[in-house]
Amino acid sequence: MIQVLEQGRTFHLITAHTSMILHAMPSGHLMSLYWGSRVEGDSFSYIVRDMKKASYLCGTDGINDFRLEQYPVLYPSWGNPDLRMPAVQFCYEDGSVMTDLRFKGYRVYRGKETLPGLPAVISREAECLELTLGDSISNLEIRLTYGVFERYDAITGSVMAANRGEKAVTVERLMSGCFSFPDDRYELMTLTGAWGRECHVNRQEIRQGRFAVESTRGAGGHGQNPFLALAEPGADEDRGNIWSMNLVYSGSFEGSVEVDMHQNTRMMMGIQPFGFSWLLEKGEKFASPEVVMVHSGEGMGAMSRIYHCLYRECLMGRNYQGGPGKYRPVLFNNWEATYFDFNRDRLLELADQAAALGVECFVLDDGWFGNRDSADRSLGDWTENRNKLGGSLAGLAEAVRKRGMEFGLWFEPEMVSPDSRLFRSHPDWAIQVKGRPKQLARNQLVLDLSREEVQDYIVESVDRVLREAPITYVKWDMNRNITDWGSGHLAAGRQKELGHRYILGLYRILERLTGMHPDVLFEGCAGGGGRFDPGMLYYMPQIWASDDTDAAERLAIQHGTACVYPPVSMGCHVSACPNHIVGRETPLFTRGVVAMEGNLGYELDLTAMEEKDKDEVKRQIGFYKDIREIVQKGRYYRLKHDGDQRAWMYVSEKGDRAVVSFVQILAKANTVPKRLRLKGLEREAFYRAEQVMEAGEEAGTPGIRDVCLLRGSSLMNIGLGLNRPSGDFQAQQWVMYREG
Ligand code: GLA
Repeated sequence: MIQVLEQGRTFHLITAHTSMILHAMPSGHLMSLYWGSRVEGDSFSYIVRDMKKASYLCGTDGINDFRLEQYPVLYPSWGNPDLRMPAVQFCYEDGSVMTDLRFKGYRVYRGKETLPGLPAVISREAECLELTLGDSISNLEIRLTYGVFERYDAITGSVMAANRGEKAVTVERLMSGCFSFPDDRYELMTLTGAWGRECHVNRQEIRQGRFAVESTRGAGGHGQNPFLALAEPGADEDRGNIWSMNLVYSGSFEGSVEVDMHQNTRMMMGIQPFGFSWLLEKGEKFASPEVVMVHSGEGMGAMSRIYHCLYRECLMGRNYQGGPGKYRPVLFNNWEATYFDFNRDRLLELADQAAALGVECFVLDDGWFGNRDSADRSLGDWTENRNKLGGSLAGLAEAVRKRGMEFGLWFEPEMVSPDSRLFRSHPDWAIQVKGRPKQLARNQLVLDLSREEVQDYIVESVDRVLREAPITYVKWDMNRNITDWGSGHLAAGRQKELGHRYILGLYRILERLTGMHPDVLFEGCAGGGGRFDPGMLYYMPQIWASDDTDAAERLAIQHGTACVYPPVSMGCHVSACPNHIVGRETPLFTRGVVAMEGNLGYELDLTAMEEKDKDEVKRQIGFYKDIREIVQKGRYYRLKHDGDQRAWMYVSEKGDRAVVSFVQILAKANTVPKRLRLKGLEREAFYRAEQVMEAGEEAGTPGIRDVCLLRGSSLMNIGLGLNRPSGDFQAQQWVMYREG
């Protein structure tokens, strides 16, 4: 709900549990008055009344006790007495950089749409508030749009800059969201890491100064995610206030917090201003990507569930008609089983095994096209290698389908190998600085997606393959970041537009391809989770979380990823031991439990497995098919993430079933069995908890190791009894059924 108060100068954005209050001062400066747990009231301007304290800076608008720097300016610009980092900066034709934004008006309407050329969170139900600000000298106009997703407890923000003046201006900085808090004691939470270690939760205290989480790589990157949260001291999984921002964008970004000398904190997020500028000719507009803002008064767990529900229902896979009741398929991917070394017989041998074990979609990874027998050639030449496939791709796909599975295929469409037909005919299509040697990464160059002919080439080549063979799943990879920032078709003054134009080009390609193939499940990948963001999720409702498939390492990666992104968005595979990345041995049962935290898949040589392991894989797949409705559509609760113990659970949408998973990382000497306190159950209801048994284990009831019947209140307070783990990396798993 949006309340417009105080003669159209105060705006109260209300969701089920939160309030955000914005206000236009008599001077026309917009203020962020409050964001937090829901409040009631019909006037809030009293919050600004007491802010007139001393500062050495001159008074704003010649008023001595009005010093902008102490105010929680909602969308600060540069050149006035608010000398903190601004949210917006323009450069005018005369080289000046001052902009003075004042409130001009507002509009409230229902229905939250996408942004021009950019993905966004969408809902017909949501209400929007548009606040218009203007600079009377340059005639620049800024429109701030807030989307209020009442039922979901989320608010979106985006910004549109319009040049209504006579001369061109350059956008140098245009943050998507900015909010100021009247306090300085916070902990900052980010998702950081590296390749193979994506999305680890990082928490640190902030003090006076500025902290940024940012990327300059042309994508989010493995090292940082476009997510930022402030937690009040003491806030934890279940308690306390958390304020967060997540950018619906897949390129270079900046998220920052600045604690100023007056103990205020300003938080903002948007396109990375470094290396960016955008020339705005007279009459043109520029749209920022959208930021999603979530406040939770009940800790991290509630924040995660807000994001999960919002993204599942209003963002992910807009064109994918998977629909209710249609679940994500259990995949087999041949990459770690064969790498580039396969032929038709080898693939069908794997397909036979996969089908026998219950796999639903057989995915052929890298190496099926051009002369791609190693990673140094053929990217860009998206034509099947008939020698290697023993015939056409369609023939192979049909052979897989005959075995009762769907067929999926790997592409890396944004790239080109110097050793390719594509590069030989269009060397200028690669991103490069004219006159400088081109720098390779993974032996490849990045295509200039800002060019329409390149976009068209990608759409046509992927579409042709998808039409020629019965393909229902695409793994869309992107294995290097952008260097050599230069585009042959952009004018000198527009070279800094390349990064954003690349992303707009990528979105245009994905909009077209996912629209042409709405039944294809697209899974994003960037050498694992190097581009895991809401922008990609809009087109691709599944993303390969990491190339590191070791169960112990995956615990931290999936834990961090699922802090923001729905578990149903994570691709998670069981792979071989010793693990190809870290060399670790973990039990197959545990690998299964960990991969079932998201979308289960297998990526190992099934033909080399012992019979007892095949039995276990068969059991895992059967079990997962039974519980995947709960995993893919249910509510996710983190139960334990401390020391060497990890536990999480899902409760079904209807609340009638739950799945609980526990992993002991390293065994400890001299421990006694403990209890695990569950969450999200009905207090009064009785639940039958059945402990899952590994295939081949001896026990009374097939498949069930142990059963207990307890009330929700007991399970949530006294807890579920754990077995004492013996050995490293031991997992335990339960399914719970509500009785009656
Ligand atoms: C990337 C992906 C892997 C695999 C390879 C193929 O590294 O993350 O899963 O697809 O490319 O080259």
